[in-house]
Parts: sequence; C-alpha cells; structure tokens
Amino acid sequence: MTTSLRIGIVGLGRLGQRHAQALAFGTRNCTLTAACSPVESERVYATEQLGIAQVYSRYEDLLANPDIDAVVLVTPTSLHADQAIAALQAGKHVFVEKPLALNLPDCERVLAEAAKHPELVAMVGFVRRFDPSYRAAQASIEAGEIGRPFIVRSQTCDQNDPDGFFVKFAPTSGGIFMDCSVHDIDLARWMLGRPKALRAYATGTIALHPGLAEFGDVDNGLAIVDFEGGAKAVFYASRTMAHGHETTTEVIGTAGKLLVGEHAARDRVVRSDAHGVRHAVLKDFYERFETAFAAEMGDFVAACRGERALTLTLDDAMEATRIGLAISRSLASGMPEVI
Ligand code: NAI
Repeated sequence: MTTSLRIGIVGLGRLGQRHAQALAFGTRNCTLTAACSPVESERVYATEQLGIAQVYSRYEDLLANPDIDAVVLVTPTSLHADQAIAALQAGKHVFVEKPLALNLPDCERVLAEAAKHPELVAMVGFVRRFDPSYRAAQASIEAGEIGRPFIVRSQTCDQNDPDGFFVKFAPTSGGIFMDCSVHDIDLARWMLGRPKALRAYATGTIALHPGLAEFGDVDNGLAIVDFEGGAKAVFYASRTMAHGHETTTEVIGTAGKLLVGEHAARDRVVRSDAHGVRHAVLKDFYERFETAFAAEMGDFVAACRGERALTLTLDDAMEATRIGLAISRSLASGMPEVI
C-alpha cells in the first residue's frame, strides 16, 4: 500500500486525545481524517487543535464516510463490542482500547464478526506488549534465558486522584480488575506462554474512595490465578498510591528472574541532599507508556497496510476478559472461582 491509511478516531477523552495527537502528528503512513465525539468541546478540540475537517457527533455518520479506512475506538468499555462490530460491518479496520468487552458473549460476537472479515485488522490495545522493556523481557523468556517461567507477579498502581475520576468511571469500567489488572493478566499469559487459566482467588479493600462501594468495586485489589501445568500469577492493582504511577512485573523462572519497571523513576536523575537520596516518579500511565502507545499505533497502521501481522490476537483479548471476570466474581463472592 503506497497511500496513507485514513483513520477516524472515536472518543476524545482522557486517552482519546493522546491517541489522536499521536495519529495526527507522530505516526507514519496514516492521516487522521475524521473524529467523533458526542461532546461538543471535544469536537471543537478536534477541529481547532488537530485540524480535522470531518467531525461527527454520531458514530454511524463517521462509519458511513467511504473515505475512512480504519477506526480507532477510545470510548467507554461498555461500548467497545458493538462499536467494533459496526466498524467491521462497515468494512473498516478497527483498533479498540482494552478491555475488548466486559462479558464473554460480547467478546464472542466480536470474534465471530472478525472471522467474517479476514481482510480487516481487528486489534485490542494491550499497550504493554509494545513497551520496549516488556518486549525485551518476553524475548529473553522466549530465548530460554530464565529457564521455565512459572510465576508472574504484576502490579498496576496509579497515583491517588483526590477528585476520584475513576469513581465516575466505575459504572462503565468493569471494576479495578477489568480496568487495571487486565493489562497484567495479558502480560502474565504472554510471559508464561499462554497456558490455560484454571482458577482465580481475589480480595480487595477500599482505602480512600468509599464511593466505589455502591458499584461493588475497591480501590486496592489482590488476585491469584492458577494455570494448567502449575504456573501462577499474582496481581495487585491500586488507585491510591501516594507517590505516583508504578507498574512493575516480575517473572520468576527455573534459571533466573526478570523485573520490569521497578521504582518507576521518571528520569535518570538521582538527587542527594540533606533530605536523603531520591528520584522523581512517573506521574501517570501515559508518562510510563508514551513510547509504547506510539509503537502500538505504528503497528496497527502497519498491519492495516499489510506490512506486518499482529502477534496480539482477539483470542488473547477474550482470554484476558475471561480471567478478569473470574477474578471479579471472586472479589464479589469471597470464594475461589473456576475460570
Ligand atoms: P473518557 O471517559 O475520558 O473518554 C471516553 C470518550 O468516549 C469521551 O470522549 C466520550 O465523549 C466518548 N464517547 C462516549 N460515548 C460515545 C459514543 N456513543 N460514541 C462516540 N464517543 C463516545 O475515558 P478514557 O479514560 O479515555 O478511556 C477510554 C477507553 O480507553 C476505556 O475503554 C479504557 O479502558 C481505555 N484506556 C486504556 C488505557 C491503556 O493503558 N491502554 C488507559 C486509559 C484508558
């Protein structure tokens, strides 16, 4: 393909604006042609800040535009499945943010629709697979450098937001495990070689945000997953870190272990003074994964242009949802749950 891939972005909220900027100004071989948001200020943003001429308030109208080759969905998770299916039915490649959906029938519907359109790319945004450090760790495991990996300990911890944005987000996010740990779940499967998940055990607590209780959610959650063959994964997710964002993953193997992201240093400066020895910390997920988000969009565009195939599949995304749901059920029941 010699022409530029023409993309329409849907959803210009917290993450959508970041993806839109990357697509408009930082990704090769594509043009951000159109945008869609039901929120007027976001449409004004698209016109004024991104210079997009074709801006829609209704998703159906964006899909009806024959000049769009691919759609990037950065919308509330509860809309992902229907919007992804509509994109495929309209003949567009589709990138949809994680998680693919909040229930398995919705995942299955997307997989079934994608199977009808093998010529179209359908990709779910598990951004950590595009992070240079996680890629290096996975390549090291694949090369056998730590022997047989059998335990993954992975955490996603956000700095406390005193305004509690995520409390408003709770009704559509699927809860802390589906929203945050779903990344760690996907990583664990990737690092362990995609074993079948068997059982989940979870617990959690509300440390700072009582408003989550009415949604059955917590602001700190812990989970263990048993896999076939004896491998285990341990997940921790927090919305209440005092210091900043800290995503850390440890993979333990029979001949060594790997640690990714320890200490969440923002840069390579260490200050030593009368208060001690310290470094600045990453403030949020975007700061941590900015490079990975750019690589992810680059790979999506390359896949749509037929330049390379994706290793991250819709099956992977459905498995992440399946495991995340079992963990969420265990949080609610207080019992181990079969996956
Ligand atoms: P947000 O609430 O800030 O933005 C949602 C956007 O969707 C808004 O622009 C809203 O106007 C738009 N929208 C709502 N209904 C719509 C409709 N019917 N048609 C078109 N647009 C509609 O949410 P945020 O934080 O940007 O999250 C969006 C998605 O991105 C979620 O699925 C979330 O799980 C995912 N996400 C992924 C991250 C990652 O690390 N990969 C990090 C943060 C979010």
